[in-house]
Amino acid sequence: MKTLIIGIGALGGLIAARLRAAGCPVWLATRAAEQAESLSASGLRVTGVGGAVTVQATAVAPLDAYGAHDNFDLVLLATKGHDAIEAAPKVSLLLGPNATLLPIQNGGVPQMLAERLGNRVLGGLSNLGATMETLGIYEQRNAGHLLVGELAGGESERTEQICRWLGRAVEVRATGNLRGAVWSKLLLNCSVTTIGAIAGGTMREYIASPEGRELFNRTYDEALSVALATGAQPETMLVEPIPPGWRAGSIATEARDAWIARILTAYGDVTSSMLQDIRRGRTTEIEFINGYVVNVARQFGLDAPMNAAIVETVHAITSGRLAPSPELLPQVLQAHLS
Ligand SMILES: NC(=O)c1ccc[n+]([C@@H]2O[C@H](COP(=O)([O-])OP(=O)(O)OC[C@H]3O[C@@H](n4cnc5c(N)ncnc54)[C@H](OP(=O)(O)O)[C@@H]3O)[C@@H](O)[C@H]2O)c1
Repeated sequence: MKTLIIGIGALGGLIAARLRAAGCPVWLATRAAEQAESLSASGLRVTGVGGAVTVQATAVAPLDAYGAHDNFDLVLLATKGHDAIEAAPKVSLLLGPNATLLPIQNGGVPQMLAERLGNRVLGGLSNLGATMETLGIYEQRNAGHLLVGELAGGESERTEQICRWLGRAVEVRATGNLRGAVWSKLLLNCSVTTIGAIAGGTMREYIASPEGRELFNRTYDEALSVALATGAQPETMLVEPIPPGWRAGSIATEARDAWIARILTAYGDVTSSMLQDIRRGRTTEIEFINGYVVNVARQFGLDAPMNAAIVETVHAITSGRLAPSPELLPQVLQAHLS
């Protein structure tokens, strides 16, 4: 399966290095020519969970250097969300009729790409954790997996083929309910990750305050209402996606507290990638996380004011009008209530 990986950052670099180490033919696309030259000189090195590998980086070029004549069977898109949407017109030129595009971004990106590029898009998401120290040097941070499946649901031959192929490098699982899995991860990104980014800390830190807890509950529940309105059936990942008491409309129960405690055990101490993006002055993926929920809500005739207030607050932070702080949490709640 002739494969191109676009975006040789944390996840793309990890997967590229492990595919190469397994002897699989894989081509790499960077954003700029200088990055391709740098990688050609340095090669790729991965350390951490799954073991260390060092490989040469041949067949690496800027994205613009590839074209339809390259005849890729699989294009794995490992850029951030905004770059994935921006690159979509170029990527479509690389996809022959039988080629598959596999995006692995968080949130609404796979769905948004499918709206532009049709059923050549296979849904994907990553529970693999990776960091890039510098271009060419990567660390695998957990024993997670890629999850792939048809966005329309159900099983398919190409899903199985791609699982087997990428499974030579990293753990890959197939699901017949990718859309449900995407929503489950999105619900946590909307609440755990984004609120942590606004508060400037981890979920364990922000949820200790009554405002943090209320904001978590309201944001999660609002996003879940939108997910269910679309007909998605959120899948259980590490924690069940439908909180206890949900059907009864109650959020102040011991069972709900125990459910939050399970989320804290799984994700409570993670510094969110959105907070890291804010600290590095990089574009965040807010439009594909809470922003996606707001847009989908609108499509279904619903309101998502809590998630909308969160989007506005993150924009105020990234434009320098606010700084991440726990003191912002009461303000976000207030904005939603006013
Ligand atoms: N890292 C994780 O542990 C993890 C886990 C789960 C999900 N995810 C999701 O996976 C996606 C990728 O995350 P990441 O952490 O790997 O991001 P990252 O480290 O920022 O890597 C993205 C790479 O894509 C490159 N890129 C951007 N536009 C490009 C283009 N047009 N052509 C070629 N390359 C391009 C970037 O280059 P520049 O440096 O020039 O911008 C960068 O090297 C995100 O949506 C993230 O939310 C990541």
